[in-house]
Amino acid sequence: MARLRLGILISGRGSNLQALIDACAAPGFPATVALVISNKAEAAGLDRAHAAAIPTRVISHREPDFEAAMDAALRDAGVELVCLAGFMRILGASFVNGWRDRLINIHPSLLPAFPGLETHRRALAAGVAVAGCTVHFVRPELDAGPIILRETVPVLPGDTEASLAERVLAAEHRLYPAAVRLIAERLAKGDGSAVSLPPD
Ligand code: GRF
Repeated sequence: MARLRLGILISGRGSNLQALIDACAAPGFPATVALVISNKAEAAGLDRAHAAAIPTRVISHREPDFEAAMDAALRDAGVELVCLAGFMRILGASFVNGWRDRLINIHPSLLPAFPGLETHRRALAAGVAVAGCTVHFVRPELDAGPIILRETVPVLPGDTEASLAERVLAAEHRLYPAAVRLIAERLAKGDGSAVSLPPD
């Protein structure tokens, strides 16, 4: 089967991008990274893409028609699934609806709990015993959309935002490739408002 062509949108460090690059390098993984787009020229994730010889584009959110430019770049590269990986802009409805059920995001909480920023600080303040991360199809509403996979991690005594973030990030790096694999193998499908998944 042809490998699913991924377009990955980043703004910074790119550790989830790296997890996807590494997964795609494994023999038999059913996806390949066709293009990385950053809205920031200084994003460290661009170096990760360059090191893997993956085409990159920098498209600043200050450009007029920034989302239309991203859309065109993704389509020109033959991208079939767009993965947000630490992309720090909220995308407009036109872009999101244009990629409906072909646009996914990873978020560092167990959605629908703690959407938005500073998830670990809020999770610790709420006293939750379990934290985690979520991969979901993107809808115009922030951190909403059908959930594809979640992974839980424990909150441990003495955890700080940094220690919890590190534990969740390790889970993110497992979860994102797993979700991409499910979609590439057509086992997870965005289906209007729900995701169909295979039985366990
Ligand atoms: C991750 O925690 C991701 O869940 C969130 O932003 C962070 C990006 O980290 N959306 P990285 O750039 O992938 O290292």
